[in-house]
Formats: sequence, structure tokens, C-alpha cells
Amino acid sequence: MTDPRLGGRQLRRVVFDQQAIARRVEGLGAEITASYPSGDLLVLGLLKGSFVFLADLVRAIARPLEVDFVVAASYGSGKTSSGSVRLAYDPATLLEGKHVLLVEDIVDSGLTLATIVQLLSARRPRSLEICTFLHKRAGEQLRYPVRFVGFDAPNEFLVGYGLDHAENFRHLPYIASLQ
Ligand code: IMP
Ligand code: MG
Repeated sequence: MTDPRLGGRQLRRVVFDQQAIARRVEGLGAEITASYPSGDLLVLGLLKGSFVFLADLVRAIARPLEVDFVVAASYGSGKTSSGSVRLAYDPATLLEGKHVLLVEDIVDSGLTLATIVQLLSARRPRSLEICTFLHKRAGEQLRYPVRFVGFDAPNEFLVGYGLDHAENFRHLPYIASLQ
């Protein structure tokens, strides 16, 4: 497969193509619409990885909502999650009394989310749920259940649709594994 976006890198395979992604996002949007009958809904995207998914997802939700973002920064510099995470951008929006839907690109060990959920819970939202596009179901770290899942993901390193490898490939319109 030759995609000029790849700059010569080889893909192993396309895991979810554009059509499959679009169908699933529509389905998730409908699930979310049906799950929040009343009250203020704040959709919080965890940057950077969720930006493509979030843009598609909010347009598939047929009810009023607000959008804001959170940016997590690890204290460590390792490649794997250390769990010591702080908010590098903290939403100005009030969370108190609102239904908050935290949107993530992919959950692997769940450590990142576990920490963010703790930080956000302290702001007394009316409810706090998680929506992730992909779930690797790798870790037992996530005591907090993920309410909305796009797809279960294979245990391969995935790129595209917001997911990066060293900040590359976020703009692929499909999800693929690298060679
Ligand atoms: P966790 O804390 O182990 O759940 O890690 C989740 C974070 O690691 C995600 O938000 C992604 O930024 C990154 N990540 C995990 N798996 C992948 C992958 O296959 N491709 C790209 N990024 C990934
Ligand atoms: Mg990342």
C-alpha cells in the first residue's frame, strides 16, 4: 500500500478503514444521544489523540452540548504510562452539576485515564463517563468502567485517526498498524 501521507513508512495492515470508522462513530453518537435525556452535557476531549475522533463524534450526537479539552502531561519521560499525570491544560469550563463525557483515543493500561478521572471527579460533575474510540483491554489499572467503546483493538501499535507514533500519522483517515 502506498499512501503519500506515510512518507515511505510501510504499514502492516489497515485495522479499521474509513467506512468502518464512520459507521461506528454514527452508532456511538446515537448511543450517547439516547443515554443523556436531560441536563447540561460537557464533552471533554483528552488531547492530542482524541481530536479527530472528537470532531466526528460531537457531530453525531443529536442534543445540546458543550466542548472543551484537557491536556494530560506525564511527569516521567518514559514511553509507557507512569500514572503520574497532571493537567497541562485545565478547562476553564465549570464541571460542577454537568454531565461530563471524557473522550479518549485509545485505552491501553488505563493508567492515564484513572488519574484524569480522579482529578475531574473532585470538581463534582453531575456524572462522569468515559468514551474511548479504541480499547486494548490490556490493563487492570482502570477501576473506573469505560461506558462507551468504539472498537476493541488488537494488541498492536496503532496509528491514524488521531493516534500517533512520535507525533506522526495522526492525520491518516484510517487506523493501521505499523510494520
Ligand atoms: P494507558 O495509560 O496505558 O491507557 O495509555 C493510553 C495512551 O497511550 C493513549 O492515550 C495513547 O496516547 C497512547 N497509546 C496506547 N496505545 C497506543 C497505540 O497503539 N498507538 C498510539 N498511541 C497509543
Ligand atoms: Mg499519545
